[in-house]
Amino acid sequence: MLQPILGFSKKTKDEKIDWLVANYLNNDNNSKNVLKQYWNNDKKLQKLHDGFIENTVSNYYLPFAIAPNFLINKELFAIPMVIEESSVVAAASNTAKFWLERGGFKTEVISTTKNGQIHINFYGDDLVIQTFFSETKSILIESISEIEKNMKKRGGGLLDIILINATDSLEGYYQLHCTFETSDAMGANFINTCLEEIAKTLENTSKLHTDFILKNTFPEIVMSILSNYVPECLVKAQVSCPVEEMSANGMDGKTFVSKFIRAVEIAKIDKRRAVTHNKGIMNGIDAVILATGNDFRSVEAGIHAYASKNGNYTSLTNAKIENGIFIFSIEIPLALGTVGGLTKLHPLANLALELLDNPNSRDLMKITAVAGLAQNFAAIKSLITTGIQHGHMKMHLINILNQLKASEKEKEKAVEYFKTNMVSYLTVDLFVNKLRSNGKIL
Ligand code: MEV
Repeated sequence: MLQPILGFSKKTKDEKIDWLVANYLNNDNNSKNVLKQYWNNDKKLQKLHDGFIENTVSNYYLPFAIAPNFLINKELFAIPMVIEESSVVAAASNTAKFWLERGGFKTEVISTTKNGQIHINFYGDDLVIQTFFSETKSILIESISEIEKNMKKRGGGLLDIILINATDSLEGYYQLHCTFETSDAMGANFINTCLEEIAKTLENTSKLHTDFILKNTFPEIVMSILSNYVPECLVKAQVSCPVEEMSANGMDGKTFVSKFIRAVEIAKIDKRRAVTHNKGIMNGIDAVILATGNDFRSVEAGIHAYASKNGNYTSLTNAKIENGIFIFSIEIPLALGTVGGLTKLHPLANLALELLDNPNSRDLMKITAVAGLAQNFAAIKSLITTGIQHGHMKMHLINILNQLKASEKEKEKAVEYFKTNMVSYLTVDLFVNKLRSNGKIL
């Protein structure tokens, strides 16, 4: 039976791998080689990556790709995308080109406020805590003046604190809801540091407050943390063009737009479709978030919560016709950073930002929203015309060929053959086997 290991983090990388191989992997050199072949020869670079997280044993590569020709607010962008799913970047590129010929994308940031909460237990008299809060609010704000100094120079900082009585939903539960501007930083560390300091000040001050002392009932801090639900940090992107210019994949503009709007309407009212519809949007968004060293989990959580802000999970995009013009748009919350975190530390994230002309966080919000809208456009366009598998499996063909260990010549022949034939694992396997059994092992 396997024994738990103590002090794993103290072991060297080689020792960690040896332990893994001995206990969990095929005990030959192959597993070790697989892990080690991804080590970077540049020791400094490797050390940088090792430092991002704990217990690193290797690097995990994902493709870093470019979707060019995105016309956004009249400026041309080549958008960096990091994603494993075949066809996402091709879809983005095709959509960029489609809209390049139709005026491009228009986008605007609606708001940039972020927030955090201090969760409090208090079982005393509501008036007592409300009075205490109004008397102490300025002390709470003052307590973070040092922490805020640099952020304030960059135009950010704490905006406000309000005390919320949530005892109707949960007995004894109060909350300090704090709002922030964090300039070009995503702001998680800044917000959390501020919250913890405010919470500490609140706890200390309350201990000296006569009303609490007299009743021997004090507010108790449960926890302090930013919220990844950021409906006040919003960006909008849209495309539009006359209906008759919307013909695509052999379908005339009027039919295309009508089916397109229907597809969005379905995602508006059906949760199962909405989740998949929004997943397609996240294909574009996550890819940009990853490429630029931002936190895709927080973005995912916030966006999906926003998709159900009215009680029903629904489509994040909207489509309509107004005066003969087809309008397709998205509105999403995006708390992003272009400084701090990995953005400047990870050389590829840094380069991705350089590719985007070193955007501030507002500009990155716009570009990311466009990537999401474009991806949704591409998915619906395929779904209502050729079907999704057509483009998807074409892109997946190379993956299947690689799985079958096809030679370069075999790949060439397969790519040619599958231009007009259906791609599936079975058909590709048959094709490759046929090439090989014809004695033409290439
Ligand atoms: C696949 O990654 C994404 C799609 O399923 C999105 C959609 O159905 O809209 C194609």
